[in-house]
Amino acid sequence: MVGITNQSGPPGRGTETVVDTTVQVPTTTDAGTELVPAAVVTAFGRPPEVRPFPVPAPRADTEVVVDVLADGLHPRVRSQADGSHYTSSGSLPLVPGIDGVGRAPDGTLRYFVLPETTLGTMARRTVVDLRRSIVLPEGTDPVPVAAAMNPVLSSWVALRRRVAWRAGQSVLVLGATGNAGRVALGVARRLGAGTVIGAGRGPRLELLPGLGADRTVDLAGDPAEVADRIGAAAAEVDVVLDYLWGEPAAAAMAAIARRRVDEARPVRWVAIGSVAGSTAPVPSAALRAVALEVVGSGQGSVPTCDLLAELPEMAAEITAGTFRVDARPVPLSEVTTAWADRGTDRIVVMP
Ligand SMILES: NC(=O)c1ccc[n+]([C@@H]2O[C@H](COP(=O)([O-])OP(=O)(O)OC[C@H]3O[C@@H](n4cnc5c(N)ncnc54)[C@H](OP(=O)(O)O)[C@@H]3O)[C@@H](O)[C@H]2O)c1
Repeated sequence: MVGITNQSGPPGRGTETVVDTTVQVPTTTDAGTELVPAAVVTAFGRPPEVRPFPVPAPRADTEVVVDVLADGLHPRVRSQADGSHYTSSGSLPLVPGIDGVGRAPDGTLRYFVLPETTLGTMARRTVVDLRRSIVLPEGTDPVPVAAAMNPVLSSWVALRRRVAWRAGQSVLVLGATGNAGRVALGVARRLGAGTVIGAGRGPRLELLPGLGADRTVDLAGDPAEVADRIGAAAAEVDVVLDYLWGEPAAAAMAAIARRRVDEARPVRWVAIGSVAGSTAPVPSAALRAVALEVVGSGQGSVPTCDLLAELPEMAAEITAGTFRVDARPVPLSEVTTAWADRGTDRIVVMP
């Protein structure tokens, strides 16, 4: 299920209502290269501004220029744009955006994922390697796909490609009140989890049972009490999908290690995000006392071919409405103000 809120323009006209035709730019450079409106970052720490930007030229037979219809403003895109992502090369200027939906020259509607690049998806036209794209059924709404593919893949790929996943296993989602964490509950359910435990904080904790959690753990409050709650709810868990890292992850590892009855049964800890800290003071005892295996899931640790192999099924589930991701489409001309919006809806930029 995908909710779309605050759509710009008159209601009822689908995605056309937010395509921005008001941005006027020169059409070519002096050298004849096509220019299109794009979100351009010229300094780390400052949001992008809409500027004319040259359309990148295809460099191989497999590359084409697509008309971009929708791309998601994911946390990963923010960290690309502020230079803090671990893949950042520090090069400027850059056009942010890592994935999106667009129309290829042969008329097909495609979802695509870009490699690490400074020429991202937040432009009216960009270059795409067809091998890193899938064809979407004609008539697919680009907004839900652009909003949901990134948060869905974070847990889907982790379970399918980074753990020896078996249906019936139990899953703890650490950071389940976030956008990707909430979706992870439904993904774990869809992939056959036996028990799903959602740990998070704030008012969104109440939503988790409706999204697939059998149990919830409140991460707010006194750390010793939080540790007790984690230990009581999740000591025998098989897989942890960790969106937080930092102190909360280290404390949860220690809590599970203290309370686990079957110490030799593996608990596979998948580091997916790091909203609570880029480093975690993991206690040595937690690693020695139980069969705790820590891995990561992300760009680099998941081979591109594995990621691409999962895309068609994920796209089909998203368009079927299996997962709830609330999306807020905005025209490219509003990208600078949209950057400041830290609301819960996933912003989708419509170039
Ligand atoms: N590896 C991948 O494939 C992949 C894919 C997608 C996302 N990610 C990563 O996953 C992470 C989460 O993404 P998201 O879209 O879910 O982000 P989000 O929507 O911003 O959610 C973050 C959640 O974490 C909570 N939180 C922050 N600090 C916390 C703390 N100290 N203790 C407990 N909860 C805390 C926030 O609560 P408050 O609202 O109360 O602050 C919020 O509920 C990001 O680091 C993102 O880059 C990775």
